[in-house]
Amino acid sequence: MEIFIRPTYDEMSRVAAQEVASILNTKPNAVFGMATGSTPLGVYRELVRMHQEGKLDFSQVTTFNLDEYVGLPVTHPQSYHQFMFEHFFQHVNIPKQNIYIPSGTTSNYLAFCQWYEDRIQECGGIDLQILGIGSDGHIAFNEPGSSLSSRTRLKTLARQTIDDNARFFDRRDDVPVYAITMGIGTILDARKILLLANGRQKATAIARAIEGPMTSMITASGLQMHPTVKVFLDDEAASELMMRDYYDWLEEKRPGAPS
Ligand code: PGA
Repeated sequence: MEIFIRPTYDEMSRVAAQEVASILNTKPNAVFGMATGSTPLGVYRELVRMHQEGKLDFSQVTTFNLDEYVGLPVTHPQSYHQFMFEHFFQHVNIPKQNIYIPSGTTSNYLAFCQWYEDRIQECGGIDLQILGIGSDGHIAFNEPGSSLSSRTRLKTLARQTIDDNARFFDRRDDVPVYAITMGIGTILDARKILLLANGRQKATAIARAIEGPMTSMITASGLQMHPTVKVFLDDEAASELMMRDYYDWLEEKRPGAPS
């Protein structure tokens, strides 16, 4: 894993967005794995800005979102369909038919999950997967205990996740209990992975994911198995890392490394 730590959320978001932009600039028809939640908002804002300035063209891009709540219609203000439209898709030029988000209202979840996996393959696989992390160490809705080789499936949310996400709903009881989510195995198939975290409330999860033993209790730790993960953090999210000095040293020395 390569770890990039910046003093603020805005700086962290800017360098992470540069990473997405450089992939798009070398591969105009890239396939991106998209994440929801408050963490990637800064990256999306940056990408939208670059697009509006004419520096980024999404016209050949395909996207697959990580997850969706079960039971929320696509028009529900808290559905991830709505979130992605509001914060990203309505502002860039990705063709509608190239946007894939798991269905939270299908009548056959098993068949839908298989179709979603197949569709990712048929589109050539994901070039870059963007991820946030939950305070319980989850990525997508792969809650503690999820198999590190899991695939897209229906998942019951942990109480912690429901508590964390209750801030977006009128009442805690309104938070859906089930979600459809890519698995850890699905995520690990992406060619590159970009993990984002900011804020003190993510520091423990980040330390355990990056420096702890690999365990299904912290599903983000499964990323240790992937050869090309870049992690973008602000100072607060990095505050429990034991090897912080080393990560800063690596970043400083990387440009001078022999090729
Ligand atoms: P957040 O959620 O970005 O809103 O903190 C992250 C997650 O639960 O994966």
